[in-house]
Amino acid sequence: MPTKVNRQWCLASRPEGYIQPTDFTWKEAPMPTPDDGEFLVRNIYLSLDPAAWGWMQEWISYVPALSLGDVMHGITLGIVEESSNAKFHPGDLVYGMLGWQDFAVTEGKGLMRLPKTSSVPLPAYLSVFGLTGLTAYFGLLDIGKPKAGETLVVSAAAGAVGSIVGQIGKIKGCHVVGTAGTDEKCQWLTEELGFDAAINYKTESLHKSLLKHCPNGIDIYYENVGGALFKSVLNLINVRSRIVLCGLISQYNVMGSGPSLASIITNRARIEGFIVTDYYHRAQEAIADLQKWIMEKRIQYRVDIVEGLENAPTAIGKLFDGSNKGKLMVKVSEEPL
Ligand SMILES: NC(=O)c1ccc[n+]([C@@H]2O[C@H](COP(=O)([O-])OP(=O)(O)OC[C@H]3O[C@@H](n4cnc5c(N)ncnc54)[C@H](OP(=O)(O)O)[C@@H]3O)[C@@H](O)[C@H]2O)c1
Repeated sequence: MPTKVNRQWCLASRPEGYIQPTDFTWKEAPMPTPDDGEFLVRNIYLSLDPAAWGWMQEWISYVPALSLGDVMHGITLGIVEESSNAKFHPGDLVYGMLGWQDFAVTEGKGLMRLPKTSSVPLPAYLSVFGLTGLTAYFGLLDIGKPKAGETLVVSAAAGAVGSIVGQIGKIKGCHVVGTAGTDEKCQWLTEELGFDAAINYKTESLHKSLLKHCPNGIDIYYENVGGALFKSVLNLINVRSRIVLCGLISQYNVMGSGPSLASIITNRARIEGFIVTDYYHRAQEAIADLQKWIMEKRIQYRVDIVEGLENAPTAIGKLFDGSNKGKLMVKVSEEPL
């Protein structure tokens, strides 16, 4: 019988511009076996995230820096196949940073366990009930502090995080305006998700469109993009507005000069960054609300699943050219029956 191998994507080089497939190298390692206190997880879905660019750099961030040759960081959802750990058992579904590979051995630190019985499709746990949903929920509610009647602008609004932010904004009674890169995405936002307006930032004048759709100025800006969009929004923010600095995807591949922040001063605005892991201890709070809103059909989400671990290095490019439609992930192996 052939011995099982552990297919892995490892870091080959640190990207300076866009992430390239050549920044990864394919390895076939022997199957790992768990020691005392450890267990073996088979990855089923691998989440692809814009933050990957930062994780590939040498600097220290909220995840440990990788050395060249290390297995690429990635959040996965997987199933326990063998265990020498009293707390995790074969058949348990787990979620955490287990990397771009078929199998991982772990002691369980930082892993979350999925409910034993659930009618929720597994990809939702890497999407609306995972990091994506928590990011949208806590970023908007804890930092943006939306009030009914306020104007909320969301960038990358048709993306995984942005689309949930805008829908929660509507639930909280805000006037919600999103920006996205295609007419099809803009149409989805206004016709299906209930956004009040959507701006195609690639074809419309940002300043004129924001003026038109935000006649009362901007009270909350949920920032996923940065660059020119950030500058246009700053011109229209209201006194005591809040800027939720969630991500800067347009800046991840370039090292450039930032926008003028003078408007923050004149408007006594509040700008605050956050990392979703700060909120993991409150995950159940968000999941309960998100579940309720999905059941009530007040929130929709979509997932973009690419088949096969071998395709991960090319698939991640979809986040940066905007061709992903919903939460991007890779199907690494079959779901349990
Ligand atoms: N702070 C945290 O803890 C945290 C956690 C998760 C995610 N994030 C951030 O949240 C943001 C969204 O992440 P996601 O996973 O939900 O990805 P996503 O929005 O599903 O996908 C990324 C989208 O960004 C847009 N984009 C790419 N390059 C762009 C550019 N140069 N200018 C404008 N838009 C661009 C594209 O949509 P268009 O077609 O609209 O261009 C693309 O579809 C990212 O900035 C990410 O880093 C932060």
